[in-house]
Amino acid sequence: MAFRASLRRATAARPAAARFYSQAIAVPTSSSSPVSAAQIRRDAALPNPDPAEDSASAALVREHAPFMVATYARPPPVFVRGEGSYLWDLENRKYLDFTAGIAVNSLGHCDPEMAKLIAQQSKTLIHASNLYYNPWTGALSKLLIEKTLASGGMHDAAAAFICNSGSEANEAGIKFARKVGKALDPSGAKTEVVSFRNAFHGRTMGSLSATPNPKYQAPFGPMVPGFRVGELNDIDALPSLVTPATCAVIVEPIQGEGGVRVASDAFLVALARRCRDVGAVLHYDEIQCGLGRTGALWAHAHLPPEAHPDVLTTAKALGNGFPIGAAIVNARVAALIKVGDHGTTFGGNPLACRLAHYIVGRLADEGLLEGVRKKGEVFREGFERLRERYPALVQEVRGKGLLLGLQLSEDPARIVKAARERGLLVITAGTNTLRFVPSLVMSEEEIREGLAILEEAVRVTREGGSE
Ligand SMILES: Cc1ncc(COP(=O)(O)O)c(C=O)c1O
Repeated sequence: MAFRASLRRATAARPAAARFYSQAIAVPTSSSSPVSAAQIRRDAALPNPDPAEDSASAALVREHAPFMVATYARPPPVFVRGEGSYLWDLENRKYLDFTAGIAVNSLGHCDPEMAKLIAQQSKTLIHASNLYYNPWTGALSKLLIEKTLASGGMHDAAAAFICNSGSEANEAGIKFARKVGKALDPSGAKTEVVSFRNAFHGRTMGSLSATPNPKYQAPFGPMVPGFRVGELNDIDALPSLVTPATCAVIVEPIQGEGGVRVASDAFLVALARRCRDVGAVLHYDEIQCGLGRTGALWAHAHLPPEAHPDVLTTAKALGNGFPIGAAIVNARVAALIKVGDHGTTFGGNPLACRLAHYIVGRLADEGLLEGVRKKGEVFREGFERLRERYPALVQEVRGKGLLLGLQLSEDPARIVKAARERGLLVITAGTNTLRFVPSLVMSEEEIREGLAILEEAVRVTREGGSE
């Protein structure tokens, strides 16, 4: 009876959900209207026009969307396959991917060796729980420490906690820092966590509390108590921002979601000094900017050891699309974390860790990192051409390696759509910023191909023609 009643309620709620979602994704739910001659001309002029209302893609979305909580506003294509730098949609159209799953697929889509390892390990052992040892959680932790020490970054990296996502890695870092604060000041006064404007650290309540964006925080207040916000690169403010009450400072060496904003070396050195002065844990969130994306294994690797972090978090590229995250800590932090302090059911399972073990090996390779630096220059040359051609539109190029932002003077939505309909996927960040985070193994030729599409997309949104 109870089941039938809840089924009736769910069915009754469905039309409203469908309406809400179809607005969010702009795919009408009404039966398809006749396609106009103008629409046909426009579609014929474009290689990848967004799937029409009467397409298989739109039908699939109409069927599925009512059952999906509407947390994303997605464009119409439905992606069904990926290989290297390309994705294919349900209409079998090909897109060059400058997004790499938001800085995730650093080895490209469906890396063949990864596919082989998934098959092998899934026939050997997928999960047995953290109550027992397995060969891969420890092997990955060891490799992360060895590669970090060899990279010139975090010179005192000692141990890793493996979890499932970036938010979880940051939660671990925040909890560890609170424990350090309690050890240093048993009165309980050392619990404040400092983060910076435009930061993005995740969506769980702890990581969200360190993400001072009203759009993300406001609907879910109150936030976890004890979080403070400062301005990135404001050295003068550090003495009043980071105080003896601070247990942790969490910062992205390059802010990704916030608009590809680079923390200056001088700021990070000053921040690290201030953290040491007051005994606060320095936590670098390299979930987006780490693992080779800047052309070094870690974005902070060029900094002097005094500016290295106590906690370093990673995720995204660590699994190349398979969910995994990690918090790397030094011995000072590790020594205070005791059995039972933290845990996870899935985190560190042998399948995820075996994959990440292979991926870290690939991403730490000096040849690959050198390629990232070169490819970053190819992008910058293209951006300079765009800036010369459209000086009123292109205001600034920011970032490093293959984490690049093009600051525009207007909302890039039309450019993003025009690029997509010409076979290029790009994403945005911050305010009016186009963000470029392609796979790190994308060829220079593919980058040039994408830049040419981008230029065409900018042109049609400026000079008219078939947008
Ligand atoms: C810098 C940074 N930290 C944390 C996160 C959250 O990671 P996840 O979405 O895996 O929880 C992200 C995701 O975009 C990120 O870019």
